[in-house]
Amino acid sequence: EFALLNEEIIDRSQAKVDIEDRGYQFGDGVYEVIRVYNGKMFTLTEHLKRFADSAESIGISLPFTSLKLSEMLEELTEKNNLQTGNIYMQVTRGTAPRNHLFPTGNVTPTLVAYTINGVRPLENLKSGVKTILTEDIRWLRCDIKSLNLLGNLLAKQKASEQGCFEAIQHRGQEVTEGSSSNIFMVKNGTVITHESNHLILKGITKDVILDLCFKNNIPVQERTFSLTELEEAEEVFLSSTTAEVMPVIEIDGKKIRSGIPGHLTRKLQDLFEKEIE
Ligand code: PDD
Repeated sequence: EFALLNEEIIDRSQAKVDIEDRGYQFGDGVYEVIRVYNGKMFTLTEHLKRFADSAESIGISLPFTSLKLSEMLEELTEKNNLQTGNIYMQVTRGTAPRNHLFPTGNVTPTLVAYTINGVRPLENLKSGVKTILTEDIRWLRCDIKSLNLLGNLLAKQKASEQGCFEAIQHRGQEVTEGSSSNIFMVKNGTVITHESNHLILKGITKDVILDLCFKNNIPVQERTFSLTELEEAEEVFLSSTTAEVMPVIEIDGKKIRSGIPGHLTRKLQDLFEKEIE
């Protein structure tokens, strides 16, 4: 197995970072998870763009251009002979004596990427998943794909301890997003999902789904929706790079309709599948 460490592709076991790396100490960095289908990176351009945007929004300048980065990820995928799985990539502000202030001088960011084998979650895609509701206790820049994921981790752990796949977060009445996914609901035949602002991550999968809706004349709205609307929803699903279009069949022990994935969810799953073939 190979990993990318800065500009080098090296043996994974040789890829080490310093104990004063700011990612390790402060979570001072950003990341991406990119899906690989049949040896090909899916929506790579969009991921590289978001990676650059996230880095820029916290004042980290990427050590490479997106083009160079895409070439290196390509090489990494090939060297690891990855067919179906994920690429994890992160960049931190670099290594410097611990200080809350950004380091001065020529501290270079630490870039790391590696691959993970992983099949599609076919069983869950078929049957759907259970979820819980939990108050969104995260900060107010959830649009940055930051390494600081404690709020997300606590939410996901709580879900898992209740035998659920995901936690649907909300700020008071306002439904925001999952711990590592975006949330969609269907009301009167319209697909509704939170607008991409500072309260959620602008999911790449979410954007693919919005596009599929537009292209296939499925009514869709990006707007805030409430817990009450969610409770009364005709269908609910979630999306992410790894979960794709995932039916939600239960929230806090209450079945959505009959507990069977809905029609529009199925349709979007079919359309999504055509995109990744
Ligand atoms: N998570 N919202 C949050 C908080 C996320 O962490 C993610 C993805 C998404 C969906 O984004 P996308 O469709 O671009 O994957 C929404 C990744 C998969 C992770 O942290 O593993």
